[in-house]
This record gives sequence, C-alpha cells and structure tokens, in this order.
Amino acid sequence: MTAFWRLRTRLYDVCEGSDLRRGGRKAELFAHMEGRTLFMAVGTGIDLKHFPAHADVTAIEISAEMLARAAPRGVQCPCELRLVRADALNLPFAYGAFDTAVTSCTLCSVPDPGRALQEVHRVLRPGGKLLLFEHVRSRNWCFGLALDAMTLWTRLAGTEMNRDTVASVRRAGFEIRRIDSVFLDIILSIQAVKNLPSPTSGTRDRAGLGRRRSLARIAGAGVPPLAAT
Ligand SMILES: C[S@@+](CC[C@H](N)C(=O)[O-])C[C@H]1O[C@@H](n2cnc3c(N)ncnc32)[C@H](O)[C@@H]1O
Repeated sequence: MTAFWRLRTRLYDVCEGSDLRRGGRKAELFAHMEGRTLFMAVGTGIDLKHFPAHADVTAIEISAEMLARAAPRGVQCPCELRLVRADALNLPFAYGAFDTAVTSCTLCSVPDPGRALQEVHRVLRPGGKLLLFEHVRSRNWCFGLALDAMTLWTRLAGTEMNRDTVASVRRAGFEIRRIDSVFLDIILSIQAVKNLPSPTSGTRDRAGLGRRRSLARIAGAGVPPLAAT
C-alpha cells in the first residue's frame, strides 16, 4: 500500500493537492482544533497552511516520501507541529493522548477505515473532538453510481471514492454533531465527538506504550523505520 503513495508523491501537489481542494473550507474546519491535536495522514503538507496559529499538532503519515515533502512546509506552519512516521491503523500513542483528531482525505486512502477510526477513538480522550474533511459516496443515486464507477480505477492507486464514512464514524463510537456538504454531498466537513466507549476498541493502551514513549518518539521528529504494508 505504501508503494502507491510513494509513486504518487511527485505528482501529488500538481494533480491533487491544490487549493482546488477547497482550502478555505478546510481552514474553517481546522479552526475547531483544540488542545493536543492528532492530524491523520499529512501527505505532502498542503494542509499545514490552513492550521490555526493556536494549534498544537502531531501529524502522522505512513509514506516517508510524503513526509519528506511535508517537512519544509512544516517550518512555515504557524502552529506547534511534530511530524511522525506512523501507520494510521496502529497508532503509536497512548489511550486518551489527544483532545482533537483530524482527518483530511484520509479515510478514502487507508486500507481499513474502520480500524483507523477505532485507533482514533482509542487515542482521543473521552469528550474529544473528531474533525473530518472527506470525500464519500454521495447519497444522490446518480453521483453515487459515478463514484462507484470511478472507484474501479482509483482504488488501483490506493483511493476509494465511494466509502460510507459517516456510517463508519458512528460505528466507531462517535456522535456526529454537524455535517456540512462542501461539494455536492461528495465532499463533507464533519464534526463529531467521542462520547461512548467504542464497541470494538478497549480502553487499554493496546500497544503497552505510555504517553512518555509517545512523546519520546515525537521528540525525535524523525522517520523511524516502518514495515511496509
Ligand atoms: C489523499 S492523501 C491526503 C493527504 C493530505 N491529508 C491532503 O489532504 O493532501 C492520503 C494520504 O494518506 C496516507 N496514508 C495511506 N495509508 C496510510 C496509513 N495506513 N497510515 C498513515 N497514512 C496513510 C498516504 O500516504 C497519503 O499521504
């Protein structure tokens, strides 16, 4: 899976990462970041300029190539920022380590969005916020079918265009507070809260990693070796 993203890194900013992807609407959503914030899959860092100055962000990403592109943009980021190479499906952070988690075109890209959301649920504190900027399968039948058709080839490059992300967020144990359609019910800006224990994730620090270890890894701000998925 990481191989797809390695190949897509070079063309990412030109083809996919421009402000055509509605940077202004992302900034509106990211303004709700509060406290210790986990950003899931930073890519080449095009979102960094939309982070609010008050934010304190740990941004993860599985691809070393993407992270290498994000690093110079991180220097110009207005807020506190740590870049960490990590797998969204196996986060190296303790239970309740974050106050806010953010996804941005992430859940279409990870192989198992349900598992990624369980991991987010685990590392968020109870009452913590989840902010999502995602494209999903439209409820309009015509757009929905078009997205199904597009997914036949986009999935070859690691992106599923037709996921039911709202249902996945609820299933992972979040309460949805607000959904705004950014584009034709295909791109959604979603605000949710961790209210309940996830039906599928425990409250235990699954990896046995304490907050101290998480911070140590962050402090390294490097790109530790990670098994390819
Ligand atoms: C569509 S890009 C979005 C990047 C950025 N958020 C943006 O909007 O430009 C999806 C990103 O997810 C990353 N990704 C895919 N699988 C992942 C995983 N299991 N863990 C962490 N990141 C992953 C890819 O490397 C890629 O950078």
